[in-house]
Amino acid sequence: MPESSINPWSSTPSLDVEKTFAEFGIDPIAPILSELPEIPYFMRRGIVVGQRDYLPIARAIRNRTPFYLLTGFMPSGHPHLGHLMLMKEIVWHVQQGATGYVTIADREAYAVRGLSWEKCREYGKEYLSCLYALGFEGKTYFQSKNNRLKDLAFEAATKVNFSELNAIYGFSPETALAHADSVITQVADILYPQVEGEPAPTLVPVGIDQDPHIRLTRGIANKFRMFIVEERDGYISVRSKNAPDSALDAIKKAFPYAKKYEGHIDIRGAGCDDVSAKVREIERVCGGYAFYTPSSTYHIFLPGLTGGKMSSSIPESLISFFEPEAVVRKKVMSGLTGGRMTLEEQRRLGGEPNKCTLYLLNMFHMVTDDAELAEIHRKCCSGEITCGQCKRETADRVVAFLKDFKEKMDVAAERIEV
Ligand code: TRP
Ligand code: SF4
Repeated sequence: MPESSINPWSSTPSLDVEKTFAEFGIDPIAPILSELPEIPYFMRRGIVVGQRDYLPIARAIRNRTPFYLLTGFMPSGHPHLGHLMLMKEIVWHVQQGATGYVTIADREAYAVRGLSWEKCREYGKEYLSCLYALGFEGKTYFQSKNNRLKDLAFEAATKVNFSELNAIYGFSPETALAHADSVITQVADILYPQVEGEPAPTLVPVGIDQDPHIRLTRGIANKFRMFIVEERDGYISVRSKNAPDSALDAIKKAFPYAKKYEGHIDIRGAGCDDVSAKVREIERVCGGYAFYTPSSTYHIFLPGLTGGKMSSSIPESLISFFEPEAVVRKKVMSGLTGGRMTLEEQRRLGGEPNKCTLYLLNMFHMVTDDAELAEIHRKCCSGEITCGQCKRETADRVVAFLKDFKEKMDVAAERIEV
């Protein structure tokens, strides 16, 4: 039986966010926000809500120390508004000092969705032009073209067996080997910045459906470590997992007051951060990767205009970046609202913005000014505005946004060579 109720490849939406977080040990992001020098609107508005180990990332932002951001897109169709949130999270973190990496998961699209390499390339380039249009600066690659990544995936594959894959993803004897390969490629993606560069905290912003990959990768990152460093009562314990003796000796040498025992060293009079840094350095010299366990954030999904998930498999649910104006207007005008059955009821009871796909579209992307958004919320709840008018205003915003964005994408497309 799969231990997980999250399946990265299903199109069923609306997981109960809080319940899922509690079940899988994802923490809320709110308590950490005060660590950030500036809180972006998507965290303020509760769109990016969950995290694992975001504290080291927030501190790296505040202290201007190095960290990476890596995330990816599966090029299984044209990019659409449902992808925009993640792209903004990427760009914001890079502006906050992250070294950014974006992977185009063409191996996954080929293995799991059956797309041709040609289609993967075409869609992948579209994703990249969206990112550049938003101002992304950083590294990008297609999985299938990155040999170092594929070697890393192979090494990582020595740390997983089929019963684990079965437990995490519900894989069965019928699952294609390439599907498993795409999973381990994603693991390698997440560790890749620390292999191409020096080890450093790495943030992986994702939607909650990707959490199984995060859990798997965090486990594998730890399995790669030679040592476990732990703060104990009054001292730091450094335990060897599979470190060569020479590495243990080097640690003893680096800390004069250290006591060396069989397979572990106890260090007094040094801080945990200093010991951890030194241990990583020695691990690297001895041929290890010394990975930081990757951190993650989780955003809720922009609902599709038809209610459920905004998904390429339901054309009416989404607005792509290539949609002609008339189609955009038509889709917005037929979007599912939180309005009442009759105009009279709407005036009397007001609408329900939090159940309205168009309100959420405004909250996610179309209304950046908090006061303006609050005013829409108020007018909706008090019944002062009708859905018809509100939808027309939303359509105008979307059309204006797309016009500007499309121009930027066209400029960006010229930068992309694949
Ligand atoms: N599986 C992700 C998706 O379906 C794409 C992806 C590939 C990814 N590699 C990644 C996401 C690494 C985050 C980190 O969209
Ligand atoms: Fe949605 Fe606007 Fe109608 Fe309120 S008034 S339910 S926000 S469309």
